[in-house]
Amino acid sequence: VSSSPRLFSFIGGTAGSWCVTAVHEVIGETLPIVARLQVAVNDVPHAGAWSLRGISSNDRYVIREEKTALASKQEGLGRSDSILAALIPIRKTPGWWLLTQDERRDIFEAQSHHIRVGMQYLPAIARKLHHCRDLSPHEPFDFLTWFEYAPTDAAAFDELVRVLRTSPEWAYVDREVDVRLIKAGESSEH
Ligand code: HEM
Repeated sequence: VSSSPRLFSFIGGTAGSWCVTAVHEVIGETLPIVARLQVAVNDVPHAGAWSLRGISSNDRYVIREEKTALASKQEGLGRSDSILAALIPIRKTPGWWLLTQDERRDIFEAQSHHIRVGMQYLPAIARKLHHCRDLSPHEPFDFLTWFEYAPTDAAAFDELVRVLRTSPEWAYVDREVDVRLIKAGESSEH
């Protein structure tokens, strides 16, 4: 049984080990621009402008074949050359949540190839998905997605994000903010 923490807070403010380089409003209400981002375990008191909470959870859509393929190709967070990161909070429409699991899987993979496309960017991009929806009825997003990569893979990451945003799955996204970050103290190298 894993005892790794599951609840994380992403706190936008003036503290933390990530410097915010850009906040792009993709669709829906954006987030206030902040200088720094702190990633904290649990739901901690904070002095930031905003705090987003998410929990890592079980997979919802992957099938065995994909899970095995992902596990063999993906790398974890915290690699020393991955000095860039993206926090992309996403909310999906009420219509998405009214669908059944098989209908959502069909849109997510059969129609949008989310996993097949995403796999092509591994191991360059390290990823972590956090779920928000079950925390409370008032969470501002459904998912907090987190990615880490080296400056040499920044263009590839931009391309991936562009491809996903034109997929049928993204027709169900009604709020998305794209926050780009660089590890504090390393901006002179970029
Ligand atoms: C780096 C390559 C990527 C890979 C390999 C990948 C893979 C996956 C996988 C396997 C899942 C499903 C997990 C499950 O079964 O529940 C997933 C979910 C998700 N991914 Fe990605 N992904 C990638 C990039 C991205 C990017 C760039 C974004 C945002 C722009 C994104 C947003 C999401 C969201 C929002 C979900 C949750 C979907 C839902 O449950 O409705 N992913 N991803």
